[in-house]
Amino acid sequence: MASIQYPSPVKAPPHVVSLLDRLHQLSRTQEDAVDTQEVEAQGFDNYMRDKFIALDRDKAEFVYQLARAINAKTIVEAGTSFGVSTIYLALAVSRNVTAGTGPGVVIATENEKTKADKAREHWKEVGDEITGCIQLREGDILQTLKHDLPDVDLLLLDIWAPIALSVLKLVQPRLRRGAVVIADNTIGAAPKYKDLLAYMRAPDSPFTNLTLPYSKGLELSVYLP
Ligand SMILES: C[S@@+](CC[C@H](N)C(=O)[O-])C[C@H]1O[C@@H](n2cnc3c(N)ncnc32)[C@H](O)[C@@H]1O
Repeated sequence: MASIQYPSPVKAPPHVVSLLDRLHQLSRTQEDAVDTQEVEAQGFDNYMRDKFIALDRDKAEFVYQLARAINAKTIVEAGTSFGVSTIYLALAVSRNVTAGTGPGVVIATENEKTKADKAREHWKEVGDEITGCIQLREGDILQTLKHDLPDVDLLLLDIWAPIALSVLKLVQPRLRRGAVVIADNTIGAAPKYKDLLAYMRAPDSPFTNLTLPYSKGLELSVYLP
C-alpha cells in the first residue's frame, strides 16, 4: 500500500529540504546504533560528543509551525548539537520577521566546540536567510545564558535532562506572558525530568502543561504568570 504523504509546514528551497533529509537520516542511523554498554563504559557525555541526537523531524516541524503561529521572533534553543532544530527555528523566525516588523533571533547554545563548528557549516549550507538571525553562544549554557537575554517568545529545551530545570529557571525571568516552552522526551525520559516536571506541574506553577503524544513525548507548556 502506498504511504500517505502528509504536508510539511516548512516551505524551504530544495537544497534545504535535501540537507534536512540528510541530517535527520544521519541522526536516526546514529541513534539506532546507540550501544548502551558503550554509553556506560565511556560515560554519557563522552559517548554523545559526536552524536547528533537531533529533534525528530515530526517534532521539529511541529515546533516550526508553533513558532509561526505565535509569531515568535526571539527563540532560545537550549542544546544545539549539529544545528538541526536551529534550522527549523531560524526559518520560522526569518519568516516571522519578514512578515512583520523588527529584528528576530534564535539564540543557539552548545558547549562542544566540534558540534558548534559543524552546526555553523550546516547553517551556511542553508544560506543567508538563516545565518543572519542565529546567535550561537558557545560554552556552558548555565553561563552563556546568564547575561544579555532579550524577552523570549519560545524556549526549546532539548538539552541533557538533568540541567533542563536550571536552564528553565535561568530563562524564566525573560519569558514573555504567553511564551511557549517545549521540552523533548518528557515521556521517554520522565525519571530524568522528574525535577523539571514537578516544577512545571506544581499547583502554583505559572505554566500550563500539555504532554503531546509524539514518540517519547513532547511537553508543550505556556507561561501564564
Ligand atoms: C539533544 S542535543 C540537541 C539536539 C539539537 N536540538 C538538534 O535538534 O539538532 C543536546 C545538546 O546539548 C549539549 N549540551 C549538553 N550540556 C550542555 C551545557 N551545559 N551547555 C551547552 N550545551 C550543552 C550537548 O552537547 C548536545 O549537543
